[in-house]
Amino acid sequence: MQKFVIQGGRRLEGDIQVQGAKNSALPILAASLLCNGESVLENCPGLSDVYAACRILTSAGCHCDMQAQTVRVRADAPHTAVIPEPLMHGMRSSIMFLGAMLGRMQTCTLGYPGGCELGPRPIDLHLDALRRMGVSIREEQGTLQCTVPKGLHGARIHLQFPSVGATENIILAAVLAKGETIITNAAREPEISDLVHFLQCCGAKIEGEGSSTVRIRGVKQLSGCTYRIMPDRIVTATWLACAAAAGGALRLTGTDAQSLEGILDVFEQMGCRCSRNEDSICFSAAGPLRAVRSLRTMPYPGFPTDAQAILMAVLCTANGTSVIEETIFENRFRHADGLVRMGADIRTAGRIAVIRGVDHLHGAQVSATDLRGGAALLTAALGAKGETVLTEIAHIDRGYDAPEQVLSAVGAKIERR
Ligand code: EPZ
Repeated sequence: MQKFVIQGGRRLEGDIQVQGAKNSALPILAASLLCNGESVLENCPGLSDVYAACRILTSAGCHCDMQAQTVRVRADAPHTAVIPEPLMHGMRSSIMFLGAMLGRMQTCTLGYPGGCELGPRPIDLHLDALRRMGVSIREEQGTLQCTVPKGLHGARIHLQFPSVGATENIILAAVLAKGETIITNAAREPEISDLVHFLQCCGAKIEGEGSSTVRIRGVKQLSGCTYRIMPDRIVTATWLACAAAAGGALRLTGTDAQSLEGILDVFEQMGCRCSRNEDSICFSAAGPLRAVRSLRTMPYPGFPTDAQAILMAVLCTANGTSVIEETIFENRFRHADGLVRMGADIRTAGRIAVIRGVDHLHGAQVSATDLRGGAALLTAALGAKGETVLTEIAHIDRGYDAPEQVLSAVGAKIERR
């Protein structure tokens, strides 16, 4: 098993070009299954989750080729509407292929996605919505057999919770369905708008992306196009958190500051300096930062749950006491144990975490528990005194493209062993 060995306490200085967004690349790869001809996706990050999505496309009968940051997908004649069991378990977001396979092949067989480190990950909102669009779903020994006896048709769907994945799955099923689909209380995350912009470029008729009401009018067919994936706002936030924890000044390029306002605002509350341009952010942090009295994760445009762990890592050495409320996932404080091993003073109860700032953290042997929890331990290790050995880093490789190279280039002492 690979691990990172980090010597903390070194300032970070320099430029970082931010990678493409994982949570945009994955639904767009699923969407490419809906298109005739070739889709060329640029700025696609080199991540294990992206490779897994390419394997699902290949097993469905598509041609998928990734060179550097460009993925070319040809989906002229997909023939197998099955999401392979190991991929379903390995990557929860494989559920996105359900809507795309139904849209293109009118059938899909998939394993019931297991829970994950963040808690049970139900898909009731996905399945209820698809049933309203004419999908019949039979469950046999943990496998879902989905068919559309009378074809997919538009529907009016109200989401009880603005689920990102459910919003995306409905859009993927609706673009080739008969008639109009209206989603109310839709999720508003920027990655959903990126998916919609890709689909519009392929000929889909969609309005209202980024708002709570999205309208999709079904069309006969879609043709692949060339599309550049948006920057990853959570990876951007992670590099900012690293500079905040270790001290330093970074210039991030290829960013979309507008999609980060909920996060930049918190860094500024803590005393960091952020200046935003069209596609770059200049960020600096010097000396101890201020605690944040109350931080609550919310659906976009609120503070994103995916940035909660990395902000907690920075708050460990802020002046004062911070309180974080995690309202999206049940079990998203698992990184607190590792931070405490590094000397942090954190108490969690249910969805509340109380972080009392300490003077500094010290290096320790810690394990990544999940993708963003692993990023949080990496962030903390960069600011800690001494050496940290971080294991189970496969979690981190799911969402970060060569993080040790990115961080070494701006002064961190980190190596992958
Ligand atoms: C997406 O997951 C992201 N993943 C997650 O990022 C992110 O944390 C999450 O949205 C929230 O922003 C991808 O885009 C691939 P949800 P998703 O459906 O779609 C409940 C990362 O770190 N829910 O908005 O699964 C669910 O249990 C990952 O990059 C239902 O109850 O998130 C959760 O509590 C982690 N029933 C809440 O909604 C459903 O049918 C949010 O889930 C679906 C969801």
